[in-house]
Amino acid sequence: MDDALRFVDITEDQLDAVMRVRARSFGVMAGGDREQWLKDARVFMQDGRYVGVADGDEVIAAARFWAFEQWWSGRRVPVAGVAGVVVSPEYRGRGVGSKLMRGVLQRAADKGFPLTALYPATTVIYRHLGYEFGGGRYRFSFPAADLRALGGKEIAVRRAGPEDAERFLELVGEAHARRRTSGPLVWPIKEVTSWLADEDNFAYLADDGIVVYNWSGSDLCVEELVAGSEATARALWATVGSGSSIADTVRAYISPDDAVHLLVEHEAHKEVQHQRWMLRLLDAPTAIAARGFAPGAGVEADLRLDDPDVPANSGDWHLSVADGSGELTSTQGSDDALVLGPRGLAGLYAGTPLATLRAAGLASGGSVELDAALDTAFTGATPYMLDYF
Ligand SMILES: CC(C)(COP(=O)(O)OP(=O)(O)OC[C@H]1O[C@@H](n2cnc3c(N)ncnc32)[C@H](O)[C@@H]1OP(=O)(O)O)[C@@H](O)C(=O)NCCC(=O)NCCS
Repeated sequence: MDDALRFVDITEDQLDAVMRVRARSFGVMAGGDREQWLKDARVFMQDGRYVGVADGDEVIAAARFWAFEQWWSGRRVPVAGVAGVVVSPEYRGRGVGSKLMRGVLQRAADKGFPLTALYPATTVIYRHLGYEFGGGRYRFSFPAADLRALGGKEIAVRRAGPEDAERFLELVGEAHARRRTSGPLVWPIKEVTSWLADEDNFAYLADDGIVVYNWSGSDLCVEELVAGSEATARALWATVGSGSSIADTVRAYISPDDAVHLLVEHEAHKEVQHQRWMLRLLDAPTAIAARGFAPGAGVEADLRLDDPDVPANSGDWHLSVADGSGELTSTQGSDDALVLGPRGLAGLYAGTPLATLRAAGLASGGSVELDAALDTAFTGATPYMLDYF
């Protein structure tokens, strides 16, 4: 690769160039979308979260990252959500994308994010840089009439709007903490407010639950539904299902473990839309300390991590898990340590069984007993996201 290529922060006068690369990568944006894109781009830029690669003065590649939090076993962990990774076509296949992504990893680590996640359009480049599958985004489809029949009529449900953003975040947070959820993102309240203000979205609030849905062609689509009780779940799903005279089908972004699967009379349609997202640890001790673990699990394990792109993760570590919390401390090397690279570490963090990681060549050393203890500590309900970014 040409040594003259520089990693840069995107500046206002480079936005046109970035838009040109984007158009050649993702398609040309419609007029209204351009305005929104520019508005968003400035927020990323101001916070040092829009970066690129320049050849001389010309920007030839760019990427940005969202400052999210992500639930891991019922606790919130800061995560850099990488998006809009683009390289100009004439520069592709020469290591520019990798140079860009190494810069993104460094920048996100410098800004204190212990985790990074992304939806890959191609896995190859991200795997080379230590990302591995962390979970999925699932969209199930139900007959609207089945949802309408769920009842819950005794529950009061009222229309909700942007003024309910804080209550929305509270309800969702309580549900994820209680269920020890892994995967969903926490969006900044500003984004939640404008989402609830969008007239294309219909939101309904009960004392202990909320649903947000919209039209998707001639179907209805649930973007998010949380309920603190069975009765509220029935009431909110039935509110959406009340559209069954017009919409045959209700699509829903939900966890594969969502209670609605156990409430509806007929199972969801066999076809499920499933998009995988990838995860990477940028600061292993902080990422371990921030997440939750299965409350009954106890682990004492030696790990050897080898992470060429984030050298601070590399070395010999001792992992202790007790009472639902974990700690990773630097230690002396041990011959029976479990050996992981960044992809194995990401897989372990996301609850992928050790047997799967071993079968994929992503873990070695350790012992069968240790595998069982680690699986118990890290594995819970299926990690999922509701949003694409
Ligand atoms: C994907 C993209 C960012 C990669 O940039 P790039 O500069 O070509 O990447 P690199 O040259 O650093 O390649 C890194 C590795 O990824 C591989 N790779 C890159 N693009 C690939 C593709 N489309 N399919 C399969 N592998 C690909 C390369 O072969 C290389 O692997 P190797 O070293 O084993 O050969 C670029 O092709 C692009 O802008 N595509 C269009 C937009 C897009 O899909 N963005 C990704 C959104 S998540």
